[in-house]
Amino acid sequence: MRHSRWTRAKQESQEIARPPPDAGRMTEIVMIEGVSLNLGAPMANEAEWIGQREVLKQLLACWIVVDDKDLPLTPRLVGVPGIGKTALAMSAASMRDQELYVFQCTADTRPEDLLVTPVLSGAGKIAYHASPLVTAMIRGAVCVLDEGNRMNEKSWASLAPLFDQRRYVESIVAGISIPAHPDFRCAVTMNQDDSTYEIPDYILSRLQPTLPLGFPNRQDELAILQYHLPFAEPEMLAMTVEFLQRSHELKLDFSARDGLNLLRFAIKRLAQNKEHPIAKDIAWREALEHCLGEDAVDLEALAQRKSQDLGGNALPLGLGDFFFDPDDPLHPDFDGDLDDDS
Ligand SMILES: Nc1ncnc2c1ncn2[C@@H]1O[C@H](COP(=O)(O)OP(=O)(O)OP(=O)(O)O)[C@@H](O)[C@H]1O
Ligand SMILES: [Mg+2]
Repeated sequence: MRHSRWTRAKQESQEIARPPPDAGRMTEIVMIEGVSLNLGAPMANEAEWIGQREVLKQLLACWIVVDDKDLPLTPRLVGVPGIGKTALAMSAASMRDQELYVFQCTADTRPEDLLVTPVLSGAGKIAYHASPLVTAMIRGAVCVLDEGNRMNEKSWASLAPLFDQRRYVESIVAGISIPAHPDFRCAVTMNQDDSTYEIPDYILSRLQPTLPLGFPNRQDELAILQYHLPFAEPEMLAMTVEFLQRSHELKLDFSARDGLNLLRFAIKRLAQNKEHPIAKDIAWREALEHCLGEDAVDLEALAQRKSQDLGGNALPLGLGDFFFDPDDPLHPDFDGDLDDDS
């Protein structure tokens, strides 16, 4: 189930990453140590953050510089998929009136993808293209390294000097070192799921502080859904908010994105046949099943199963478990007489 939710997350982030209106503008080229670099274009960013002021203020505080000798911090934004990590970073960038670049990290991201990529241009020449991260470094913009823990250690290693007092990167491919503009700011979003890497401690120590995102309260949840789907009917919004709030109470991981997707599908189903519309609650329930799976229909049963699974995996260990295999006759709890019936 986790994997399919991650796939949904990917689809949503592709939706966010639409090209900006001026994507067709002339490519900007800068010279660094005699090498010309083609810069990327910023993202269109009208993201608005709703509710949860504290975490927004914490993120903005990380990016303040209080003295000539001070440096900005690069925080980790953590939380379940779809809770709003990318949206938070995007809206913080827009509040600071800075351009925004988002680099989507994946398991296949190579160090050169993060920095500078050589591209064959006309007449067999090589053109060097700066990544969104390097473009943000040069233009003094904000870069969000999205889903940073999908990237392996080798790629992270190339960023070590960027996230300490040195604030530069070295592109082996272009043979240059690139200093970050004083206005350059960065945040890294991270998910907890099966398809992530352990980031080494020397990198984690450069990505501080950790800012965990929680679920919104009822009022904010409604406002988030309304903001993204202003055409949704109050009844449909109410059913979705009720569902999400109940799932938060039961410590299940359904997020704003899940609510938005299921509402979108239900609304489309209702709009499909204006002459013989299906009942709203039937369309909503169908959307719930198809977006979040049959399990989501009975949240209480799902929560119970989840807590049983957790309990089953968390059997307390005795001292003997550290030294002996459970079947070892030397294990203090070994009972060779046990038969199947007992
Ligand atoms: N507080 C909020 N204000 C406005 N929009 C929000 C808020 N929280 C979530 N959203 C919306 O919910 C959707 C999912 O958010 P987002 O993509 O930022 O999640 P995420 O935590 O980055 O997920 P993932 O880990 O899968 O990348 C987006 O459409 C986002 O705009
Ligand atoms: Mg994200």
